[in-house]
Amino acid sequence: MSPLHKVIINKDTNINPIWIMRQAGRYLPEFREIRKENPNFINLCLNENLSSEITLQPIRRFDLDAAIIFSDILMLPYGLNQKVDFKKNFGPVLGELNIKDMSRIDEVDFVEKIFPVYKAIKKVSNNNLIKNKNVIGFVGAPWTLLVYMINQQSPKNNLKKNFFKDDYLINRILLILEKFLKVHIRNQIDNGANIIQIFDSWAGLLDEKDLPNYVYTPTLNLVNFVKTLGVPVICFPREIKNYKEFCEIVKPDAISIDYNIDPNYILKNIKIPIQGGLDPKILLTDKETLEKETIKYLNIFKDHPYIFNLGHGVLPETKPEMVEHLVSIVKNY
Ligand code: CP3
Repeated sequence: MSPLHKVIINKDTNINPIWIMRQAGRYLPEFREIRKENPNFINLCLNENLSSEITLQPIRRFDLDAAIIFSDILMLPYGLNQKVDFKKNFGPVLGELNIKDMSRIDEVDFVEKIFPVYKAIKKVSNNNLIKNKNVIGFVGAPWTLLVYMINQQSPKNNLKKNFFKDDYLINRILLILEKFLKVHIRNQIDNGANIIQIFDSWAGLLDEKDLPNYVYTPTLNLVNFVKTLGVPVICFPREIKNYKEFCEIVKPDAISIDYNIDPNYILKNIKIPIQGGLDPKILLTDKETLEKETIKYLNIFKDHPYIFNLGHGVLPETKPEMVEHLVSIVKNY
């Protein structure tokens, strides 16, 4: 059994596997090299030779326990024919959302449009480097995708005025998302993904009273679906106001935590396997600070099933040697 499966399924507390959110990305010179030649980010995600190679880049460098497929949560709206662009130094920009057209898209069209993502997963899964490691497939949670689709860009700290105005539209989008997120998850698993992570990067924008409608119910439907496919599911409801209630209602197989929540509070209140927490900015400091902060998390969770990871994605300005040091601290703990 792979180390991540041992922690998530067997609740093993004697090992601390590690992978890193956004491990395949901009802090690696070999990624930037490929990116330079491929100015269109979506097309890069749809090039199965390059996207599978980028997925493996961090695995060639570091002793990580999982590969996360090089793709993006916004491949879903892209597959539903909403335009998605990535503007330099700005982030994603989405086109108008046409709900009538979107309602008419069928599963075959959707799968055809993003098919190279599944081919890339298959290539990665069949690679020798992945022996005894996991291949992590992922999706954005319905709430976070809804935010991008309506807001048409990162909400940073604010949602568009009148975001919640059209209840009818929101409910229609959520239903479409549920249907196609299930298709996307099933195809990733059919092609070799053996863990699914659900990223809810904007869960923290919601007041507690809105969590049941926009986060708990739609995410629970997906979590239950993944469970029927026999693959563990990790949820990352970043900065959510109530991690405890989320775990009690949604019941993922493991929970990934952000860097603002107190890990001691999490240890006390959450019984399922835990992942992550370290502030990615710590990787921008020095080796001594990195050791101190990393050991802090490892000590807190030493008797709890724990997968080491960050509390959000690794920052583009991170030096690869700091990531290498982080992996060695965790492996030698
Ligand atoms: O190693 C990995 O984790 C692989 C793949 C991955 C990417 N995006 C590649 C990517 C994953 C898992 C994601 C998830 C993702 N994408 C999330 C959830 C996690 C999070 O960070 O909160 C979100 C919100 C997105 C949407 C998105 N995609 C944004 C906001 C941006 C621009 C800013 C940024 O953070 O990079 C992207 C572009 C993107 N996705 C890049 C990469 C490597 C950068 C592309 C580039 O300009 O080179």
